[in-house]
Amino acid sequence: MKYLTFALAKGRLAEQTMQLFEKIGMPCEEMKQKTRKLIFVNEDLKLKFFLSKASDVPTYVEYGAADIGIVGKDTILEEERNLYEMLDLKLGKCYMAVAGKPEMKEKLKTMNNIRVASKYPRIAKNYFDKQQTTVEIIKLNGSVELAPIVGLSDVIVDIVETGSTLKANGLQVLEKFYPLSARVIVNRGSMKMEHKRIMEIIDRMRMIIQ
Ligand code: PRP
Repeated sequence: MKYLTFALAKGRLAEQTMQLFEKIGMPCEEMKQKTRKLIFVNEDLKLKFFLSKASDVPTYVEYGAADIGIVGKDTILEEERNLYEMLDLKLGKCYMAVAGKPEMKEKLKTMNNIRVASKYPRIAKNYFDKQQTTVEIIKLNGSVELAPIVGLSDVIVDIVETGSTLKANGLQVLEKFYPLSARVIVNRGSMKMEHKRIMEIIDRMRMIIQ
């Protein structure tokens, strides 16, 4: 039997995913140890799990280096990869929003040429295009809340979970626009070649989350 390979976004989501896999009878003992290792194996079930940066998970899945990926809808929307999105795991629930200083709420309605900082340039561009608002997108890689504080941008487009990062930095949600959660994505070829095995796993996950 061929190994079935899973790409997981490292961090809290990977931990929650492994708990879910344990519940459906797919544990990986090796992964519970504190280690810098990136690939873990369940030899009995012929499963491999690897951890990568969230934004790389759809890439591994599109190219077939992983058969299945678990990653946030934010990353799927931003990466626009050619793959199947199969299941909403309802983990890591949060939403995409425009945020900024409170005084931007009114200004946003009339202002043009808004400077928007984001880790999600494609999502930000699509959102403002739909509003027919002209924007300049500035791509950042993290701690995006800094941008409006230090004058790099007027607003940010980012994920909000508890809202505590915004609050701690004197910022607020100006417009909420997309609910997000973790999804199961599958490589198109793997779906043909390993259809039965993959669908069994997805069905078991679906039963647990219901
Ligand atoms: C994410 C996001 C916000 C924060 C939102 O950043 O970009 O900054 O979490 O969470 P909250 O609403 O619960 O405060 P992350 O922690 O992934 O770090 P990063 O900014 O370095 O990417």
